[in-house]
Amino acid sequence: MAKYRIRGEQKLEGDIRVKGAKNSALPVLAAVLLSEKPVILHDIPKLIDIDNMVLILSSIGCKIKREGNTLIVDPSSVNSWVIPDKYVKEIRSSIVMLGAVLARMKKALITYPGGCEIGQRPINLHLQGLKKLGVKINDSHGYLECQADRLVGANIHLDYPSVGATENIMLAATKAEGTTVIRNAAKEPEIIDLQNFINSMGGRVAGAGSNTITIEGVESFHGSEYRVLPDRIVAGTYLAAAAITGSEITISNVNFEHIQSMVTKLREAGCSIINFNNSVRIKAPTRLRAIEHTKTYPYPGFPTDMQALLMSMLTVAQGTSIITENIFENRFKHVPEMIRMGANIRTEGKIAVIQGVNRLKGAQVNASDLRGGAALVLAGLNAEGETIVENIHHIDRGYEGLEQKLRSLGADIERL
Ligand code: EPZ
Repeated sequence: MAKYRIRGEQKLEGDIRVKGAKNSALPVLAAVLLSEKPVILHDIPKLIDIDNMVLILSSIGCKIKREGNTLIVDPSSVNSWVIPDKYVKEIRSSIVMLGAVLARMKKALITYPGGCEIGQRPINLHLQGLKKLGVKINDSHGYLECQADRLVGANIHLDYPSVGATENIMLAATKAEGTTVIRNAAKEPEIIDLQNFINSMGGRVAGAGSNTITIEGVESFHGSEYRVLPDRIVAGTYLAAAAITGSEITISNVNFEHIQSMVTKLREAGCSIINFNNSVRIKAPTRLRAIEHTKTYPYPGFPTDMQALLMSMLTVAQGTSIITENIFENRFKHVPEMIRMGANIRTEGKIAVIQGVNRLKGAQVNASDLRGGAALVLAGLNAEGETIVENIHHIDRGYEGLEQKLRSLGADIERL
């Protein structure tokens, strides 16, 4: 298994560019099934999760070509509604294919996506919404056999503003007869991006970014050329890398509005951050200040995907910080690894108390999920001596060329 070797205590400097968002590219790739015309997608990051989504689309008949960060997709000859198990088991976010395949084929067969390292990841809200649209779901032997004579618009209220459920229902509703309204919808920027992409192909979706989304069903879609929005979590990761190393860097291709919750926390920790034409410049202090209490919430609250990254920088802040993880039940797996590096963290259920230390110590640590793994890399950038991060395939799921980007900023990191 691949690993990173990091020699810490290097300052970072220079500029890097953030690519398109993984969590936007994935539902957008599912949405290409709504059309039978060619679609060109720009700024699609080179990630394992994206590769798996491309394999799923190819397995049901799409023709896809990658040219750098551009994907050229011809969905005209889609001929199957069976989503192959092996890819669903690889990436549970492929569940968003369900709504798109149903819109295209009026039937779908998909294996139940398992939980993952960070939680059980139920899909009850996805299925409740699809049933409201007229989908009959036979859930047996670990498979979801879905079929709809007609997809009919409906009023759907989500118990919880689930990102995936909002996306799945939106996708299935785009070709339903009549109007669908989703209330208590997720408000993440990636939902707005999905709406904009669907509308660029002739769809009629409105309200994304608010808690009420309206979808008018349409008969057919045309092609589109579309650029997905920048990855706010990757941007936040590089901001945290600058913070934990006391550095000054510039990050381009950033939507400043989308990273407000992280900017607020970084400023509270003593960083100065300025925003100028789609870029941000961060200057971190020699020693960060602790941040009294951070709670993860659905957007625009502080994102759960940034929790581990924030924690890594707080392990070396002056004072005591508290983090409450409200979204996923098992998202502190990076904590014992950071403790191996000399961090002083105590967890009790969904609360972590972090007492800042002067500097971490290099150690051999294990990545067990995407963002926790990235957080361990950041900890290694700060640490005295050498850090080995193992199982970095988790990190490759969400970061294109992390080591190249960090090396270009002066970090001493290599893939073994
Ligand atoms: C998306 O996952 C993201 N993944 C996650 O990013 C992100 O952490 C999460 O949204 C929250 O922002 C993609 O977009 C591919 P949810 P998703 O449905 O859609 C509960 C990363 O690191 N829930 O909003 O699965 C669920 O248990 C990944 O890039 C139900 O109870 O998130 C969880 O507690 C990790 N029933 C909460 O909602 C359901 O039917 C949030 O889940 C669905 C969800």
